[in-house]
Amino acid sequence: MKLAVGADHAGFDLASSLADWLRGLGHEVVQLGATSTERYDYPDASDLVACHILGGQADLGVLVCGTGIGVSIRANRYPGVRAAECTSTTMAELARGHNHANVLCLGSRILSPDEAKQITARFLESPEDPGDRHVKRVGKLDAERVC
Ligand code: RB5
Repeated sequence: MKLAVGADHAGFDLASSLADWLRGLGHEVVQLGATSTERYDYPDASDLVACHILGGQADLGVLVCGTGIGVSIRANRYPGVRAAECTSTTMAELARGHNHANVLCLGSRILSPDEAKQITARFLESPEDPGDRHVKRVGKLDAERVC
């Protein structure tokens, strides 16, 4: 699978270890955003990952910041990007299944490295549920706003 892994400074170490681990599993991984723990603004990492998803260079993305919140807020400004912050494997599975999430957001200050790996693994192995009700609801995520 082609994966885009991005992070700000707070997420850099976790993103780097996730990227190495994912490469070891055979995925094609591009690491984006911070290149060290020097200050790096989290919306910029989201922009890069969103563009990789929308441009077709990546099938799925992973974004890491301190909480996972900031990266998810910015990534979700892009129609067609469905970024989900997950703090459990169940959330990761349902984000893929029900929400057809294409970007996983993780908090380096929230999760242990092992938890982050387990959540990422579940996200990647979980398929989108093609059920009509889910497709209909996911379609509404990018629909015209009502106000
Ligand atoms: C950086 O200190 C921190 O604010 C950022 O990584 C993230 O948690 C924002 O949502």
